Amino acid sequence: MWGGRFSEGPSAIMEEINASIDVDRRLWREDIAGSKAHADMLAACGVISGADNTAIRDGLDSVAGEIDRGAFQYSKALEDIHMNIEARLKELIGEPAGRLHTARSRNDQVATDFRLWVRTACRESASALRELCRVLATRAQENADAVMPGFTHLQTAQPVTFGHHLLAYAEMFARDAGRFDDAARRMNECPLGAAALAGTSFPIDREQTAKTLGFDRPCANSLDAVSSRDFATEAMAAAAITATHLSRLGEELVIWTSAQFGFVRLSDAFSTGSSIMPQKRNPDAAELVRAKTGSIVGSLNTLLMVMKGLALAYAKDMQEDKATTFRCFDDLALALAAATGMIGDLKVDRDAMKNAAGGGYSTATDLADWLVRKLNMPFRDAHHVTGSVVALAEKKGAALDALSLKDLQSVEPRITRDVFDVLSVDASVASRTSFGGTAPANVKREAEKWLTRLSKES
Ligand code: ARG
Repeated sequence: MWGGRFSEGPSAIMEEINASIDVDRRLWREDIAGSKAHADMLAACGVISGADNTAIRDGLDSVAGEIDRGAFQYSKALEDIHMNIEARLKELIGEPAGRLHTARSRNDQVATDFRLWVRTACRESASALRELCRVLATRAQENADAVMPGFTHLQTAQPVTFGHHLLAYAEMFARDAGRFDDAARRMNECPLGAAALAGTSFPIDREQTAKTLGFDRPCANSLDAVSSRDFATEAMAAAAITATHLSRLGEELVIWTSAQFGFVRLSDAFSTGSSIMPQKRNPDAAELVRAKTGSIVGSLNTLLMVMKGLALAYAKDMQEDKATTFRCFDDLALALAAATGMIGDLKVDRDAMKNAAGGGYSTATDLADWLVRKLNMPFRDAHHVTGSVVALAEKKGAALDALSLKDLQSVEPRITRDVFDVLSVDASVASRTSFGGTAPANVKREAEKWLTRLSKES
């Protein structure tokens, strides 16, 4: 492509480090779309003839057909997808192919292709996240009144419902989807026509190419257009945050499926066995969802480090943007699909959850609240009295609601029989009706709200 200036070809090592075709061939659709938009615009502006534009478009369609059929011969010597496609176009249509690169450089070309790809990845991630939210809300609706222990420090804290717990994740994942929406909106400016870095002397129409490719407008500064990759780092930052949420869900599935908890059972479709221990059902998918966070956050970090300290405008360092971004979104898509699959068909053991919910004196706060409400005790005093009751229960090896009224009165004589109304786990969750609380009635309502909202979003 630049033979005029060189007398020798590159060394094999140079070719190896320089070529990106094995990675960026994934951009072929975006590259063809960008080239067609560019050729149309050049024709509309009188820079190339209508006949040349037609030849270019037809030729690009043929190239696309070859790639799609798997008949395209990729060449490392041609470095990247842009030159591979252009060289094939030249073979197919001859001279007009050489006019396509007028008022364009690979710098704005790759920035455009890659932005298109990342924009699609953002949209797909957002919609996969909303699908996960739908599944979470559906399962939450079914389990709005399934009582389980809520934890802090992974120590039993207060009873909650499984539905409420699932909807906590729906909140997180919906915010994640929103972050992808925001990123897609912010990146939606078109670099094409920035040329190498300075713009071009040809009378081009950047509004036209921007519009054809579904961008809101052209990038306003040609240097920024070819130098910036924050559209990719922002998208990967959204992916990294999503991955941390997924890793927490993965971790909880691992905990919940353990024999010691036994709260849920993953379907056969999402479990594996052991080659030596016949009894085992391993939550591998949950563990891998948890582990993918490493590569997803690492991908973000990789590109941040590549971009750090680069002088404007384009530098070849930036070619490393694609492998890491592709890996990030491949991992994310797989992790989201696995999480959605696991949540969708896991079996809930309500009895095991409820039994566990009753352990650990989980309704101690309910007793303290009762003392405040009925005996008008300051909460701090009620906390102290309840602490003594828990100590007594511990000594007797009994749950709070298994203590006798006499036992309770030995600590605080004014306690009456109706205290037992608040000591069961069902009563406890039912009482948490404050906005955002875990009461089954709240959870049912929230789950329905989610399902209605999500049915309107794709
Ligand atoms: N393959 C290159 C990349 O992905 C395309 C841009 C090359 N530009 C250049 N001036 N060498 O970044």
